[in-house]
Amino acid sequence: MSLFRTKNIEAMLAASTDGSSGLKRALGPIDLVLMGIGAIIGTGIFVLTGTGALTAGPALTLSFVIAALACGLAALCYAEFASTIPVSGSTYTYSYATLGELVAWIIGWDLMLEYGLATSAVSVGWSGYFQSLLSGFGLHLPTLLTAAPGAVPGVETLFNLPAFLIMMAITALLSVGVQGFAKLNNVMVAIKIGIVLLFIVVGVGYVKPVNWAPFMPFGFSGVFSAAALVFFAFIGFDAVSSAAEEVRNPQRDLPIGIIGSLVVCTILYVAVSAIMTGIVPYPKFAGIDHPVSLALQYAGQNWVAGFIDVGAILGMTTVILVMAYGQSRVIFAMSRDGLLPAKLSEVHPRFATPFVTTWIVGVIFALIAALVPLNILAELINIGTLAAFSLIAIAVLVLRKTRPNLRRGFRCPGAPVTPLLAVALCVFLMTHLQAVTWIAFTIWLVIGLAVYFAYSRRNSLLHR
Ligand code: ALA
Repeated sequence: MSLFRTKNIEAMLAASTDGSSGLKRALGPIDLVLMGIGAIIGTGIFVLTGTGALTAGPALTLSFVIAALACGLAALCYAEFASTIPVSGSTYTYSYATLGELVAWIIGWDLMLEYGLATSAVSVGWSGYFQSLLSGFGLHLPTLLTAAPGAVPGVETLFNLPAFLIMMAITALLSVGVQGFAKLNNVMVAIKIGIVLLFIVVGVGYVKPVNWAPFMPFGFSGVFSAAALVFFAFIGFDAVSSAAEEVRNPQRDLPIGIIGSLVVCTILYVAVSAIMTGIVPYPKFAGIDHPVSLALQYAGQNWVAGFIDVGAILGMTTVILVMAYGQSRVIFAMSRDGLLPAKLSEVHPRFATPFVTTWIVGVIFALIAALVPLNILAELINIGTLAAFSLIAIAVLVLRKTRPNLRRGFRCPGAPVTPLLAVALCVFLMTHLQAVTWIAFTIWLVIGLAVYFAYSRRNSLLHR
């Protein structure tokens, strides 16, 4: 039974409301929606839409709707969870209080992979736009240093240098603490939304509807596979819940933040993918790592394309920051609970950050960014996230049975059907990922279980 030992919800709630955490409750619903968008819009829309268009054709728009549906259903469950236990941390913390230590461990282990690889993946996207911008000035890196081995078919590449360097820069920034990050984030988010709107407004005039036919060249199987890939574009709305202890009215505002940012992004994504595939015949996206700016170059709008490059670079920088921050906090929480070595939650005496952890994971995921192609990274992240979402949806149902009287600021409508649909759709998308993704994910889980039984179980604070 010790596998299912739980943390005490009442104690967690009390600790989060008695002010002892030292965090100020200053955030409102708009801040949260902006924060969500800051974490969501990134490599998914700016880069993966290229591969998505090759997989689904113009029906990529449909793939975005399907992925959004899976996220939306999961988001409703997420919102119920977040509004019931509005303490900082994330699903790892919630599941520790509800489903017990083993499930919490699996989710935490999963999230480490999700956030870590997401920083790598977004850095690869960053690198594509950075190189597109450089080439606008006639500058080119040596080909060997432009991408991971095997990333570009028929081109010999060795190491993605820009991806490696941006990861190192962000690690350095995070390790000494990011002051005024929230303000900077709001500015960068505004720029990011601005350039997406700019793309829509300028691009729409160049759409040739003939490019939308045939709409579904690879049938539903292509649409679903693309949905499983571009699901990546929606990851990040969960970041909103990590701010729970700093929200004025968490029970009302967290669901607004989570669902609001998802709705805004879905509308933007569908518009962008429709316009992209309307300007450029989809086969032309082969081997392109900056499809959004390519569409405008194709339309002859080189200046606007340059603005898009700059905006995308800034926008993706915030995503890397948020993800790297999220990862360090998950590791921090797991280490504080005794599930990972205490060294990992040591705080630097001067910078007040988890300095050692930040650098260890920074170097590891910078190397991964430099050496692994984007599509492989994105699929791995998706499988981990889809698995975590399914567990959350189940957790909502379990919690309703085991703790029916807990105060829920937001109740997922239509339960138990909605959570069950969320699980079904997430698992369905998982089945559309490649076999090698499943193998890698299984290996990661097996290693995780080995660590749990060899170390975490005995060192857990709950155990001691
Ligand atoms: N959703 C984030 C992105 O697309 C991870 O970059």
